[in-house]
Amino acid sequence: MHQTRNSRETFSSGLAVFFATLGSAVGLGNIWKFPYLVGANGGGAFLLVYFLCILFVGLPVMASEFFIGRKTRKNAIGAFEQLKPRSPWKHIGTMGVAASGLIMFFYSCVAGWVYYYLFKALRGDFAGVTLDSAKAQFGSVVTDPVSPILWQVIVMAVVSLILTMGVKKGIEKITKTLMPLLFLIIVIIDIRAITLPGASEGLKFLFHVDFNQLSGAVILTAMGLAFFKLSLGMGTMITYSSYFTEDNNLLGTAAKVAMADTLVSMLAGIAIFPTVFAFGMEPGAGPGLLFMTIPLVFSQLPFGNALLIAFFLLTSIAATTAMLSLVEVPVAYFSEERGLSRKTSVLLCAVVIVLLGIPASLSADSAGLLGGVTLFGKSFFDFYDFVSSNIMLPLGGLFIALFAGHVIDKAQWQQELTNQGRIGIAGVVAVVRFIARYVTPALLIIVFLHSIGVL
Ligand code: PFF
Repeated sequence: MHQTRNSRETFSSGLAVFFATLGSAVGLGNIWKFPYLVGANGGGAFLLVYFLCILFVGLPVMASEFFIGRKTRKNAIGAFEQLKPRSPWKHIGTMGVAASGLIMFFYSCVAGWVYYYLFKALRGDFAGVTLDSAKAQFGSVVTDPVSPILWQVIVMAVVSLILTMGVKKGIEKITKTLMPLLFLIIVIIDIRAITLPGASEGLKFLFHVDFNQLSGAVILTAMGLAFFKLSLGMGTMITYSSYFTEDNNLLGTAAKVAMADTLVSMLAGIAIFPTVFAFGMEPGAGPGLLFMTIPLVFSQLPFGNALLIAFFLLTSIAATTAMLSLVEVPVAYFSEERGLSRKTSVLLCAVVIVLLGIPASLSADSAGLLGGVTLFGKSFFDFYDFVSSNIMLPLGGLFIALFAGHVIDKAQWQQELTNQGRIGIAGVVAVVRFIARYVTPALLIIVFLHSIGVL
């Protein structure tokens, strides 16, 4: 029933499409980045801007990627080549493959810490932990030259194993099993968090609307977050949608994934902030919040270690399913365009990621072995993050929107997004095209100029 136009492997149902795509969107971005950024940038006001970014940039770019992927049933580079043969447009895909590598170099490193923390929680390392010892434990993890790399290798082995099993038996099966589990764990932690005495402070912190805190920089931060969160701008959604079913409502999937991803982010915020406030701690920032605060906070609660294990299990799941989509971009490219088998492609990607991920691991902390080495004034870790998230994703998103809005003709767009007229949403589809054609590129040019420091 679910045969594609060139009989390629596809996901087996709409539900599988939803969970796999959501698995890509939900990741480390939700669990530390989103709550921290919401908290640090004015709470509810930032959220409002984030929603607008999703509406005017995230959804149109996602729809464009879905169009390109399902229409061609090809990898991120092959798809552009098919739609506009022998043109430079295919280099949007080339940049996507490169961005996937850059993100993976540091993402797999952070994922390694998460796996390691899950292991440490299971081993009972956090019993009787204090603020100082939590800081010291994190410090010794990030500056250790050996174990984080070993964990990074373990992460890559897990991701590679799932990917070699293929689209249906690997990605689909894992995401369909783990995403509901992730929801369940986060809801349990949320119930515990909001029933803590003093939790309302944390909720206030998260939802408090303070328009005075909105500035150009804050708006642009929200935009960057929307990109990273929804896995946009580097062909991930092109690659995944090339496995979508023919009858999938692409705009419906985009809207559902954006909403569910935002919900998971909010649930993560609800899990973290009330707990942090209930214990009178500082909301803190980024990785510190996750790795230092959480063990401390949970260790002081009844059933704390079980919750701590659940928390790091949840984070490991989120990071793993996001990495499946990140690595699938080059895997699909190498196996379809370069004649490698799927297994060899996975192995090649894993080896490159581990090798180039080592400098990220050794430079994540300034006291690390390569902490003092800089590339354009940044450590390897920060350089990988900066170039991929702040330059390549917005640039990729800009070109994807321009391609879909100006190179693809209206009839093709309408046909694909209405499933050859079978779903009666022609009006909405036309509005999305208008936004992708004009509004999204204009907004993205502003983000891009900001991210390279021009604006
Ligand atoms: N969306 C993932 C997260 O929020 O952690 C990260 C990510 C995955 C970014 C896939 C880009 C991507 F292509």
